[in-house]
Amino acid sequence: MEQNFDLLVIGGGPGGYVCAIRAAQLGLKTACVESRGTLGGTCLNVGCIPSKSLLNSSELYHKAKTNFNNLGIEIGDVKLNIEKLMKTKSKSVQVLTKGVEFLFKKNKVTYIKGKAVFFSKNNVVVYQDGKKSSYNSKNIVISTGSTNSSLPGIDIDEKNIVSSTGALSFSKVPENLVVIGGGYIGLEMGSVWSRLGSKVTVIEYLDFITPGMDREISNEFQKILTKQGIKFKLNHKVTAVKNLNNKVVVDFTNNKSKAKERLDCDKVLVAVGRKPYTEGLNLTKIGIKKDSKGTVEVNKKFQTSVPNIYAIGDVIKGPMLAHKAEEEGIAVAEILAGQAGHVNYDVIPGVIYTSPEVASVGKTEEQLKENKISYKIGKFPFLANSRAKVNNESDGFVKILAEKNTNKILGVHIIGPHCGDMIAEMALAMEFGANAEDIARTCHAHPTHTEAIKEAALAVDKRPIHF
Ligand code: NAI
Repeated sequence: MEQNFDLLVIGGGPGGYVCAIRAAQLGLKTACVESRGTLGGTCLNVGCIPSKSLLNSSELYHKAKTNFNNLGIEIGDVKLNIEKLMKTKSKSVQVLTKGVEFLFKKNKVTYIKGKAVFFSKNNVVVYQDGKKSSYNSKNIVISTGSTNSSLPGIDIDEKNIVSSTGALSFSKVPENLVVIGGGYIGLEMGSVWSRLGSKVTVIEYLDFITPGMDREISNEFQKILTKQGIKFKLNHKVTAVKNLNNKVVVDFTNNKSKAKERLDCDKVLVAVGRKPYTEGLNLTKIGIKKDSKGTVEVNKKFQTSVPNIYAIGDVIKGPMLAHKAEEEGIAVAEILAGQAGHVNYDVIPGVIYTSPEVASVGKTEEQLKENKISYKIGKFPFLANSRAKVNNESDGFVKILAEKNTNKILGVHIIGPHCGDMIAEMALAMEFGANAEDIARTCHAHPTHTEAIKEAALAVDKRPIHF
């Protein structure tokens, strides 16, 4: 028997499940199809959430091993139980995916398990365990996310040559880990295994890490990670990765000198970006346009070339971030309910959850220069922040970029303790069109790390108090 919906969402990741819940809240009869077997998408199952569990545990382990003694906390031998560490991670994932299922029930979203395939612009067939069911819907949202990219000639086996998924589940700490790609995934997972004892080498094609990030922050980030023991081979191109006698051999070439090098290691993480995932959906058959990279084309209202079919998250353009997908999911649900759904792409924060964290929102200095926008800079180091100092976490700084004549905040870039949380203040400030003076005149509790933001705002007008 066919079922009819107002909205059918394909994909139960942060974009899709949030869209489904918001649509149901607004009174639309909504269903969400998911093939993974659990809700939450890459982020919750094999991305943001499990990696944050490992980042947290590995940081505690590393601190217990290297810092506690200095603080006067003597705990004897610190041992790693990797099996337990992985179980803790899996448990967090399990609890959170079940939580999304609960939210579906609470909001009366129909959860359909299986792989969805378009039959027509209003009909989707779902395949599950050899069975086939058919669903009609007035509107359909594609939120099928992304999958990892690889390099020509490199076969990811998820054993020795892994994507982020494999790197979340090593059963023992690799002695030597080579990471290809100095981006978000490479540096977060590289940090995890480095803290747990691996010798980590990052091979990056460009001559700097984290492309797209404010360059001053990126340079500082690389210095800090190097101090932590991670080795970098910048400006190098990987030419081959091969399994050889229980080892992996990585060949790479210096882009400038053309000198060839080889590294032997136990594991290789390939983290060279992600690409939109729309395989098997039958998009071409129903006339949905994609660009050459496989990105689904949408207009400002997230409509694809077929007007009752929408797309959000990693399958469309923009940063591949869970919170960006969530905002788009809410916007589409509201548009479908006759409201003015909207996403402000100028204020999408980005965070790398290393230690220290790196966080940013708005334009980088390079972008301002490129767009010929006059700006002022206010900077403040955590070295001069009392809370960071007493906690022995004084690496990093806050950098505020403000419009030259009006002081309007155009971008904020932070490397330092807890900045992944602190960036929310600046995202809010930017949403309200605040200028640096507004931040400078806002009372920030003492002693907190957030005072570094206030001081950086004061520094925009060259009047910081503590530096
Ligand atoms: P990425 O785009 O952040 O970094 C990929 C890196 O690989 C770049 O530095 C690039 O220059 C380098 N690269 C590309 N080709 C290469 C080659 N042939 N040899 C050496 N280096 C090469 O991509 P990543 O780290 O794979 O992450 C994928 C997506 O997942 C990103 O869009 C990221 O935003 C998202 N993500 C976000 C996280 C967060 O918000 N904390 C955490 C993890 C992933």
